[in-house]
Amino acid sequence: MVEEEIKRKADYSETFNVDNLEVENQALTNALNQLEQENKVINKTLIRTQEETAMLREMFNKTSSELENIRKPSLLVADIVNIIDENKAIIKLPNGNKFYCYISKDVKNLNAGDSALVEQKSLNILEKIDVSENFDVEKYVIIEKPKENWKDIGGLKEEIEEVKEVIELPLKKPELFKRVGIKPPKGVLLYGPPGTGKTLLAKAVAQSTNATFIEVVGSELVQKFIGEGAKLVKEIFNLARAKAPSIVFIDEIDALAAKRIETGTSGEREVNRTFMQLLAELDGFKCLDEVKIIGATNRIDILDHAMIRPGRLDRLIEVGLPDEEGLLEIIKVHTKEMNLQKVKLKQLVKEMNDFSGAEVRAVCTEAGYFAIRDNRDHVEQEDFVMAIDKIRIEDDEEDNGAFFG
Ligand SMILES: Nc1ncnc2c1ncn2[C@@H]1O[C@H](COP(=O)(O)OP(=O)(O)O)[C@@H](O)[C@H]1O
Ligand SMILES: [Mg+2]
Repeated sequence: MVEEEIKRKADYSETFNVDNLEVENQALTNALNQLEQENKVINKTLIRTQEETAMLREMFNKTSSELENIRKPSLLVADIVNIIDENKAIIKLPNGNKFYCYISKDVKNLNAGDSALVEQKSLNILEKIDVSENFDVEKYVIIEKPKENWKDIGGLKEEIEEVKEVIELPLKKPELFKRVGIKPPKGVLLYGPPGTGKTLLAKAVAQSTNATFIEVVGSELVQKFIGEGAKLVKEIFNLARAKAPSIVFIDEIDALAAKRIETGTSGEREVNRTFMQLLAELDGFKCLDEVKIIGATNRIDILDHAMIRPGRLDRLIEVGLPDEEGLLEIIKVHTKEMNLQKVKLKQLVKEMNDFSGAEVRAVCTEAGYFAIRDNRDHVEQEDFVMAIDKIRIEDDEEDNGAFFG
């Protein structure tokens, strides 16, 4: 019996062996630690997910509000001619047509003579606007101090000389003209095919005279500023005077000054008003004011002659496609910084007849791409040959497109 008792006690003490308990305790503590660790990770993930959700929600809201904006039709600017009662008014559109239409409930304090935004179809008046105060011309034109240099222009020697004489000299040395007693032209018209360096010439002369360069695109002026084109022209010249010496560069001037075919459509009349304002501005300033105008066009054939009468853009400079010598000068400009190996530029330009300066630049870029694709750090003759082919094909496709389109 006693023996049995002793054995039982021994068993008992074995079960509750302190060592065993500690091991167990340790295991449990470890498990607890691990769980705590996991808990932390889960919490972090939760926070991150919440942040991401918030971000996505914000993106979604932004996108949908932008979508909404894109879907909104554009509105017309109209003049209020007469208020009939609080719900109705007579408006005048930029083309001169008058309409009797409804005033939206949100519009308050509308008076005759105000400007308002109206819906395109219903012509409901949606919002009163204050054109004169909100009109910030600097938002609508490109103003810069160009970095383009005479050295960046290949060929065009005579054209450069002429631009220097007509634009640079009067700005830099007006006293020469006063002394001799002649009036320099107020501006020039550069004409010729696209990509031949007209913009480049204008920018280079702005750079060499340290003039503010104000760029306007004729077609944009006509399209974007229905009802406001004339006003914008006026503001552009005010700006030019304020920032003098300055050069106003009007690209695609034919869009404003195309020969007027009297179709009598509203768009036509609108362009005319803008054009008239441009002529008035040109006539209004003096030859030796520190403002010069450079117009550019690919379509001299459709340009209204009023634009080039004496005292306006009366100096015409043709900027044509480069000859072989010109092409060589241009390709030199555009390969100046390129790492060339055994490239014979002279031979290349023989394959580039009818290319414009812009196309020569495109060839150089493409040739560089061929080298990059081939994992080389230098450009070889063959890269240029392939690039020329590529640009010529693109060019032909465009021509055909234009022909059939
Ligand atoms: N004569 C030229 N010399 C050097 N680069 C030229 C020349 N003509 C055109 N380019 C290149 O083509 C680009 C476009 O030319 P651009 O002056 O805008 O032509 P345009 O105004 O006549 O359409 C220029 O930025 C320039 O890189
Ligand atoms: Mg141009």
